[in-house]
Amino acid sequence: MEILAELSHIDKSFFGVKVLDDVSFDVRAGEVVALLGENGAGKSTLVKILSGVYTRDAGTMKIFGSSMGDLTPRGAQDLGIAIIHQELNLCSHLTVAENIFLGREATLGGILAKREMSAAAGRILGSLNIDLDPNTVVGDLSVSMQQLVEIAKALSADARVLIMDEPTSALTAKEIDDLFVVIRKLRDGGSRGLVYISHRLDELKHIADRVSIMRDGRFIKSAGFSEITMDEIIAHMVGREIKEKFPRVESARGRKIFEVRNLSAGNAVKDVSFELYEGETVGIAGLMGAGRTELTRAIFGVDAKDSGRIFLDGSEIFINCPADAIARGIVLAPEDRKKDGLCVRLSVRENITLPNLDSILGGMGVVDRKKEGNMVAETVKNLAIKLSGPEINAGSLSGGNQQKVVVGKWLARNSRVVIFDEPTRGIDVAAKVEIYNLMNGLKKNGIGVLFVSSEMPEIIGFADRILVMCEGRVTGEFIGKEATQNKILERATRFEVKKLAGDGNEREEAV
Ligand SMILES: Nc1ncnc2c1ncn2[C@@H]1O[C@H](COP(=O)(O)OP(=O)(O)OP(=O)(O)O)[C@@H](O)[C@H]1O
Ligand SMILES: [Mg+2]
Repeated sequence: MEILAELSHIDKSFFGVKVLDDVSFDVRAGEVVALLGENGAGKSTLVKILSGVYTRDAGTMKIFGSSMGDLTPRGAQDLGIAIIHQELNLCSHLTVAENIFLGREATLGGILAKREMSAAAGRILGSLNIDLDPNTVVGDLSVSMQQLVEIAKALSADARVLIMDEPTSALTAKEIDDLFVVIRKLRDGGSRGLVYISHRLDELKHIADRVSIMRDGRFIKSAGFSEITMDEIIAHMVGREIKEKFPRVESARGRKIFEVRNLSAGNAVKDVSFELYEGETVGIAGLMGAGRTELTRAIFGVDAKDSGRIFLDGSEIFINCPADAIARGIVLAPEDRKKDGLCVRLSVRENITLPNLDSILGGMGVVDRKKEGNMVAETVKNLAIKLSGPEINAGSLSGGNQQKVVVGKWLARNSRVVIFDEPTRGIDVAAKVEIYNLMNGLKKNGIGVLFVSSEMPEIIGFADRILVMCEGRVTGEFIGKEATQNKILERATRFEVKKLAGDGNEREEAV
């Protein structure tokens, strides 16, 4: 197979911390190579070097047979290297079509060819099976729609090397299925090579031809996908074996802690009722647009409620804004960490302590630095957040470690109900187990845990009880142990279940 891009012996440091150490990696024509590794292993940094975002400190880079000096993003793009970044990078005030063709605008006689670009954008979206008007302003779109636009943008460049850094982290089964069809089509053309980064290891069997595994900034192993087992892949990624992927602790259901009665909010949440008991973890399943995120936002007081009542420990409470919820011990770790969950320009320390200032104030109403330091150190330790120090900008952490900070800041305070929206999105297999164990810890302390997840194996494997939402309503409820992907999908779609990627009862197999 022709080697399209080849990185050899790459070193890269940030502020004196070496994050890539002698890493070699290549992409060949006609293949999908999966780049795997735990959070912070250096995957994004490596592909950013290949796509001209970062420059390397040492090592060589050959692209289409020619040795390359330092690249710029524009230079890489011109060479035929396109990248879908892990964090969304769209201009929210521009339309879908304008974003797709940003920097490569089509013109006719020196004038922007708006109608042509819109039509071309429509064709690309169509090839992905996305029903979206190219003239929609991106800021109005959901996270998953924005991710699909990112993908369409990269496809439109018609690159020979296409890098996808966690493209599916916000997508649901049907969208992933459509994306895989496109990926296979591009690969089977034979002239393109695709680099695929994902923490959803169960996706690999649908698309990966080869895997390259990194750990702690080093290259560990590359192998044909058919020549390596999933357990071996995981062992190479984490450097040890992981025994239990979903360490659900069984505990007796205690008193009722929390109850939502007939909650309606906007068009997305309709007459939702459910209860949450001490010692249980409830998962909310559903497809994109089912109203799950909107439900969490309405409960937390981000969005207005139209009707309905909320009870905590038997008494009715009134939540009109997030501060009301937080005061009652009801907290939310939101879905879009970059936008809602994290102050990317503040340090990790500040992110953790900001919502918890009340508990670290000293006698004079000033922050007690010692208490603060302890809280930060404990959170970093409990969640095994990988960082050079607590003063680093939260925005410069790897994706998975950012997510841990979002979760961590809520764990630092005494809460009654903790709501997680996609808590393990973009989090590696070992860190997922850490997050599950954290939820177990909350559960054992009598805290009610509610989590929204689009990862079916996770919902089935970890939730004690599962609520399924469809079109704003709760359409199904299962005891975790009794649920299967098919049963959930049936309730989530209220149609007969079609064959989807990762469908079936893959409870044992899926990661
Ligand atoms: N701009 C930066 N400044 C400082 N440190 C950085 C920067 N970018 C990355 N790092 C550090 O480099 C290391 C590797 O990060 P990278 O984002 O490449 O990991 P990753 O393998 O993509 O992880 P994830 O799966 O969580 O996305 C991390 O420790 C991260 O904190
Ligand atoms: Mg990354």
